[in-house]
Amino acid sequence: MGKYIVAGNWKMNKLPSETYNYVKEVVEATKGSKCEVVCCTPFVCLAPAIEAAKGSHVKIGAENLHFEDKGAFTGEVSADMLRDMGVEYVIIGHSERRQYNNETDETVNLKTKKALEKGLIPIVCVGETLEQREAGITMDLIAIQIKKAFAGIPAADAKKVIIAYEPIWAIGTGKTATSDQAEEVCGGIRKVIAELYCEKCAPEFTIQYGGSMKPSNAAELMSKPDIDGGLIGGASLVAADFAAITKAVE
Ligand code: 13P
Repeated sequence: MGKYIVAGNWKMNKLPSETYNYVKEVVEATKGSKCEVVCCTPFVCLAPAIEAAKGSHVKIGAENLHFEDKGAFTGEVSADMLRDMGVEYVIIGHSERRQYNNETDETVNLKTKKALEKGLIPIVCVGETLEQREAGITMDLIAIQIKKAFAGIPAADAKKVIIAYEPIWAIGTGKTATSDQAEEVCGGIRKVIAELYCEKCAPEFTIQYGGSMKPSNAAELMSKPDIDGGLIGGASLVAADFAAITKAVE
């Protein structure tokens, strides 16, 4: 299966002034982890995060980017700006951005292509609402999200994309998907990838689970064959908890 990656998504938390020390704490606490460790921070925290992670195993990511190269887009941040700072990862299409910031499958596709073009590793988020799950359309919906996100992306590039399955009803609610529910969808995503690209390369893709992942459930979730890591919200804000999740990969 894909390379294990545990990434924190800080969302709109932590101040720039707290970031340097906090990332230093994460670096210390996650030493020896058997997975790639990533902290995705607000734009204003990226500079101190990069400074603190310099020379360590911890990689830094952003939580969004714009799909245009440059120009009259007040308030936006481009892939080149992120790369210029030393950012390596970028979260794209998080459900909160789909809900509050008009992110669509189309903009997710444009942003994913731009990130790849500029050498950023995209973490593309997909997931269903509780209503969609109860209506029995989870996998149909996720298949559409995946197909649209990957439209026009050749196989060689596609493999660099990390997919994060985040059931919306499990985000910040304390309600984790059971490991079987999570595995069912992550396995389904791998089938869609096999269809889009090839049977043989599908196992090389990294598919994360996200949604109330914490030290107590991380090992069980990541023991599933199609779950190659986690995208961690709340628990990424406490270094010891985040580190415990990275250690759960073992
Ligand atoms: P929580 O871990 O807080 O549920 O958030 C998950 C998430 O949205 C990560 O992107």
